[in-house]
Parts: sequence; C-alpha cells; structure tokens
Amino acid sequence: MEVKNDLAIKGQQRIEWARIKMPVVETISENWKKEKPLAGFRIAACLHVTTKTANLVRIIKDGGGEVALCASNPLSTQDDVVAALNEVYGINTYALRGESKESFYDNIHKVLDLKPHITIDDGADLVNTLHSERPELIENVFGGTEETTTGVIRLKAMANDKVLKYPMIAVNDALTKHMFDNRYGTGQSTIDGILRATNNLLAGSNFIVVGYGWCGRGIASKARGMGARVTVVEVDPTKALEAAMDGYWVSSMNNAAPTADFVVTATGNINVVDSKHLKLMKDGVIVSNAGHFNVEINLKDLAEKSKQVKQVRENIEEYLLEDDKRIFVIGEGRLVNLAAGEGHPSDVMDMSFANQALSAEYISREGKNLENNVYSVPENIDKEIARLKLISMNIEIDDMTEEQVKYLNSWDVGT
Ligand SMILES: NC(=O)c1ccc[n+]([C@@H]2O[C@H](COP(=O)([O-])OP(=O)(O)OC[C@H]3O[C@@H](n4cnc5c(N)ncnc54)[C@H](O)[C@@H]3O)[C@@H](O)[C@H]2O)c1
Repeated sequence: MEVKNDLAIKGQQRIEWARIKMPVVETISENWKKEKPLAGFRIAACLHVTTKTANLVRIIKDGGGEVALCASNPLSTQDDVVAALNEVYGINTYALRGESKESFYDNIHKVLDLKPHITIDDGADLVNTLHSERPELIENVFGGTEETTTGVIRLKAMANDKVLKYPMIAVNDALTKHMFDNRYGTGQSTIDGILRATNNLLAGSNFIVVGYGWCGRGIASKARGMGARVTVVEVDPTKALEAAMDGYWVSSMNNAAPTADFVVTATGNINVVDSKHLKLMKDGVIVSNAGHFNVEINLKDLAEKSKQVKQVRENIEEYLLEDDKRIFVIGEGRLVNLAAGEGHPSDVMDMSFANQALSAEYISREGKNLENNVYSVPENIDKEIARLKLISMNIEIDDMTEEQVKYLNSWDVGT
C-alpha cells in the first residue's frame, strides 16, 4: 500500500520495531491468517493508541475481524501510530494526542458506529458509553474484554448492580498480564516517563510510591534500582507489611510528604495525594501518577490554591503557591509512562495483548453462552501464553514425572 506522509512512515517504523519483541502475538497472527477465527466479527477497541496496540489491532485484522480503534486516554495517543494505522494498515483509528474531553467521547462514538460484536476496552469508558448512551447496540454484542485493574473494578461494580448487559473477560486478572505488565511494564516505563520529562537524578533522592499493588511494587523496585531512597504509602496492612519486608521505608502520606523529591501514585483511587499532603511538600517536588485515571492527585484544589500555573518544560506544569513554593506535575496527572513516555515495552505487552486477542476469540465462540458477568481469562489461555513466551525466550522448563503427578494427587502417603 502507498504510504502517504512522513508521520505515517515514522509510525509504521515504530510499529514494526515493537513487533520484533512481540513473538507470542506474532504466533497468534500466523495461526489466524490461516484460520480466520474472527471473520464476520466487528470489534470496537478503546486502548492507548501506541505501537503495541497497533500490533494487536493488526492481528485482529489478520484474523478476519473488522476493527476500529479510539484512545483510552487523551494524552497517551501517539499521532504517528494513528497516521500509520489509518494510512498504512487500513484500520480506522480515531484519536489525537491532547484531544479535548468532547473529542475523546466523539471518537468513542465513532468506534461504536461500527455496531460491534466484541468490545476491547482499557478503563471501561467504551463499555460505559455503550451502556449509557448507545444501549440499542447491545443486542449485537457477544461480549467484551477489559485490559486494566481500574476497568475491571468498574465492570465488577456494574455486574454487582446488575446493569452489565453482556459478558466480560477480565484480561487484567490473567497471571500473564498483571504479574508482568503491571509490575515490570509499569515499573520500568514509569521511571522512563519521569526521566524523559525531568532529566533529573534519581540516585539519592527521596522517592515516594503511593500504593504497593502490582504497579507500585514494580515502580518501587525500579526506583530503588536507580539508587533512590524509596518510601511506600499504603492503606492495606498486608501490602504495607510486604513493602516493609521487601526493605522499603513504609509511612503515612502525612509523614512521607515533607521528605519527598518525587511522588508517584499507583492506587486506582481518588485524591490519594490530597491538598493537605501537597501543602506539606517541599519546594521543587515532582509529582506524577501511574494509575489509570487522573484523579489520584487533587490537581483541582492545587490549581485553586496556586497563584500561577504554567508549563515550564514539555510535559511539566509548575504550580506556584502563595508562599512561592513550586510543585511540578508531570503530564497533567495522567499516566506518566504514557503521557511522558512511550508506555510499556513491547516485550510485556506481547503477553497482555496475546490475552486480549485470545480472549476476544474466546468471546466470539463462547460469548453467547456466558452470563452477563465478569469472567477470568480461561486458565488454558493464560498457561499457553506463558508457554509460548518461554519458548520465545529460549527458556526450558521441566515436566513432572508420572510418579510426581500421582504423588501430588494422593492423600495416603504421609510421614
Ligand atoms: N500506567 C500504566 O500503564 C498502568 C498499567 C497497569 C495498571 N495501571 C493502573 O494502575 C492502578 C493500580 O493498578 P494495580 O494493578 O497496581 O492495582 P492493585 O489493586 O494491585 O494495587 C493498588 C494498591 O493501591 C492501594 N491503595 C488504594 N488506596 C490507597 C490510598 N488511599 N493510599 C495508599 N494506597 C492505596 C491498595 O491497597 C493496593 O495495594 C490502576 O488504576 C490500574 O488501572 C496503570
């Protein structure tokens, strides 16, 4: 196909670069090119529009599916990827980096105009819009898949309230997703985003991680690896204990705030860095968020209390308080790894998107037999992805002997 502009050429190059480190997705693509399991299916996808996502939608097309894509966050879109998807790969993609809220939702509607059989979501904005504003489309839908922790929480809340109108697969809950994507992917790319935005030194700094879940564990470990003194803030006693025994300083936000050089939130919760904490922070602190929505830092209140807010560097805004204290916020408090970086390395998105692809195929076969509920990724899919990833990494593992299988299934052999 003829390539039309430089942006599209750049996007294509970066998409093909990501593809090299996505061997599991590539294996699925090879099978799907022959089997066309998604032939006749229309698929609406709302995901971060990055090079890795491009490879997911590309293989959905290989599998015979008709797919349209919009962004799951206004600041995570890579415009060269949008150009390449539209002009090189022939996939309708509606997104623009920095688009307004209105344009963001207009684009969700454009994707929904496809009248999808399957929805692929990251954060549940697509599903929410479909349920609340386009309910007439629901009868076509076989089911959907959801990428992230926050989206799964929203969908489970919908199911509990009995308003979820089709079955969902919680891709985030697959082991080959959250153990690697959330931990190693968010861990590395959050540090990468902070460094690209600030070019500051982490070694010797006081680095506060708020939330010690899958993402927080990864961020804390990579920050420590760069020589930062890491403090973890938690509300869950078990997670706090784990952080303490992993060797981190654990503290309340009130105590940690005055010491911070960097603060990163990764909780999926609202106002975890609130006005009272921002007030305690020192001049020059750098605050960012890795959680799904830009609700974790109370920026509204910070803006109200500031005498001036101005951009001081690409992706960094300075909030100047009455006492001349400066608080620097990266990427408007949106996911720092995507707003100021390129998102996760393709090596981990390989597994996340293999889960998305195989779960979408599962929905195409089984969706009509499932209840309107949130389901785990079938275990055989999760295990197969781990197996394929190990093969691609040339890692050999053992099989149990027959004796071992029998032993583990018995109760009569004791002391
Ligand atoms: N940036 C990315 O690319 C990326 C990738 C994956 C997930 N996410 C998002 O990151 C967020 C976290 O995901 P996760 O998988 O780590 O979730 P998780 O449930 O494993 O961890 C969240 C942690 O935050 C803690 N927490 C909740 N409220 C808190 C508070 N007020 N103060 C301190 N700690 C608090 C919880 O106790 C929990 O341990 C979600 O919004 C998820 O969607 C982002």
